[in-house]
Amino acid sequence: MGKLVNTVEDAIAALGAGHVVGLPTETVYGLAADASNELAVRRIFATKRRPNNHPLIVHVADIAAAKQWAGHWPNAAQTLAQALWPGPLTLIVPKAGQVLDVVTGGQATVGLRVPGHAIALDVLARFGGGLAAPSANRFGRVSPTTAAHVRDEFGAEVPVVLDGGPAAIGVESTIVDVSSETPQILRPGGISRSRIEALLGRAVPVGAQGSHVRAPGQLDSHYAPRAGVVVVPVETLTREVEHQRVSGLRVGVISPQPIEGATWLRVPADTEGYARELYAQLREADARGLDVVVCMAPPINGLGEAVADRLAKAAHPTRIREQT
Ligand code: TXA
Ligand code: MG
Repeated sequence: MGKLVNTVEDAIAALGAGHVVGLPTETVYGLAADASNELAVRRIFATKRRPNNHPLIVHVADIAAAKQWAGHWPNAAQTLAQALWPGPLTLIVPKAGQVLDVVTGGQATVGLRVPGHAIALDVLARFGGGLAAPSANRFGRVSPTTAAHVRDEFGAEVPVVLDGGPAAIGVESTIVDVSSETPQILRPGGISRSRIEALLGRAVPVGAQGSHVRAPGQLDSHYAPRAGVVVVPVETLTREVEHQRVSGLRVGVISPQPIEGATWLRVPADTEGYARELYAQLREADARGLDVVVCMAPPINGLGEAVADRLAKAAHPTRIREQT
């Protein structure tokens, strides 16, 4: 069993030995391993129970390090990286020759990110290489935003988990594909679309979620707690709670205000606060044994787009609610 408190030295030793470590970032906690060690990267997939062909993000210390993983560094990459790194932005760029297929899922591109968290940056600086790190949750489950979430998820399977406090952003990075002429957002996240568009001086569409699954975050069902999830506008929260209670279910509500008859899982009213608290409250719904959690739809501005995206994925397929 791991120590209760792990140090950066513990993490460096584990990473050097090809093991995975729980790593805090500003978005969610990652399950990190040496991105240039194939066996180490395979351990990430095994630990997460994630399908092998899904590509991983390589975390690096700065733009100079990112360029070593890129076969070509587009202007759009430079513009976004300069303005937003360290921060919740992942850039998809053409990969450099040496980048392992196990990292890219055999694709010709690689996802790169400089995380905006002091501990992650300290680990990256001392480790010296790139760290492949997906969110530190079992495949398809809710992402962790505290070290305790990571320990709950993996227990002794991941003995080294660094505690960097609750994640400041709370949803994953925005993924922007700049590998072709037309930039696309592959996953809404911690940087709003309007910010990306302002920096690039053009509209940046959210990529079609077609059958060609490039990012597992684009699968329809993802980020799911055991409890059923229903998303409704604020005006109909009360009616939805009543409706769910009629079926004899234990009902929770994720909203800024309590609703009569439901366990209150409070989130702040602003979209940044909602993003920060969402995953912890979805986990809390399971911890309290709720059957269904009724969630207030966020306003679609700023981080609201990312929150709405994660709620839609948590809610799909509709497991409990009958259509009314
Ligand atoms: O905020 C984050 O991005 C967190 C923290 C730990 O950095 N990481 C994260 O990793 O969310 P993960 O593996 O849960 O999601 C990464 C997403 C996946 O949907 C993956 O398919 C996509 O990035 N991705 C990685 N490389 C890609 C590539 N070359 N092309 C398209 N999508 C890629
Ligand atoms: Mg994930």
